[in-house]
Amino acid sequence: MKDLIDPIDLSVEDVDTILKLAGKIMADRPAYAHVCDGKKLATLFYEPSTRTRLSFEAAMLELGGSILGFHSADSSSATKGESIADTARIVEKYADIIAMRHPKEGAPLVAAMHVDIPVINAGDGGHNHPTQTLTDLLTIHETMHRLDNVTVGLCGDLKFGRTVHSLIKAMSRYENVRFVLISPDELRIPDYIKEEVLLANNIPFEEVEQMEDVMPSLDILYMTRVQRERFFNEADYIRLKDSYILDHTKLLNAKEDLKIMHPLPRVNEIAKEVDNDPRAVYFKQAEYGKFVRMALIMWLLGLDK
Ligand code: NCD
Repeated sequence: MKDLIDPIDLSVEDVDTILKLAGKIMADRPAYAHVCDGKKLATLFYEPSTRTRLSFEAAMLELGGSILGFHSADSSSATKGESIADTARIVEKYADIIAMRHPKEGAPLVAAMHVDIPVINAGDGGHNHPTQTLTDLLTIHETMHRLDNVTVGLCGDLKFGRTVHSLIKAMSRYENVRFVLISPDELRIPDYIKEEVLLANNIPFEEVEQMEDVMPSLDILYMTRVQRERFFNEADYIRLKDSYILDHTKLLNAKEDLKIMHPLPRVNEIAKEVDNDPRAVYFKQAEYGKFVRMALIMWLLGLDK
């Protein structure tokens, strides 16, 4: 049984299949309205979420399936001390596929090791977020018509931002991709991403602190929120939270066809004035998240034939 725990569990060909299917779904939604009739998706969310959980649920409902689950650890038996493995074993009896978000790195992998139904990692701590990556890849594909030959600026909390880690892993497999990593010194990309992904694959990258200097070179600017919940110390969060605020002035020397992305939620890192800039694609990106999750659910359940 297939699972999706790490973005590179999917080969480049698998990603291609899923993105193409998402494209077909967007072009003819009624044709997919009953593909998952009788199937159930369990959303096990031990950590808050708006887009990811609701887009998973909307995706399954739109495919004709049903949903069950919980949206905080407090409303699950985790409060009584039940292990992830036991919860997963039970949910397997009630559902056909699981999407799990958890503050601990590796929790969805533990679940996947104990059940025979597909498990999707919907975000595990500061580690990975493979379905956000599929959302990001669909957004890039739909708005730029390519996944190769791009300079991607990643800005903000590159240390704890799981969406950034997963996007780098996935995009490093396409030709001529270059990364510009923009962060304060304390929130730089973890060494394991630098060593095991970027250096190991000879991917060009640079690390900078100022976004203005690198702006003209970027094809994509991927903004991220400083991940307050992963800080040990509130004072550090407060000091770093407004390190970057993207506004009209900062975009003055950006490319005309730049794509401004953000996994959302945004806090302060993109000024509202940017929302109306035609280069801002972050709300569209959230919409693509539902379609790509529809395609993923179909693919994992073997219903894409
Ligand atoms: C992201 C996450 O949960 O990692 N949100 C999302 O799923 N769209 C980004 C974030 O919370 O900052």
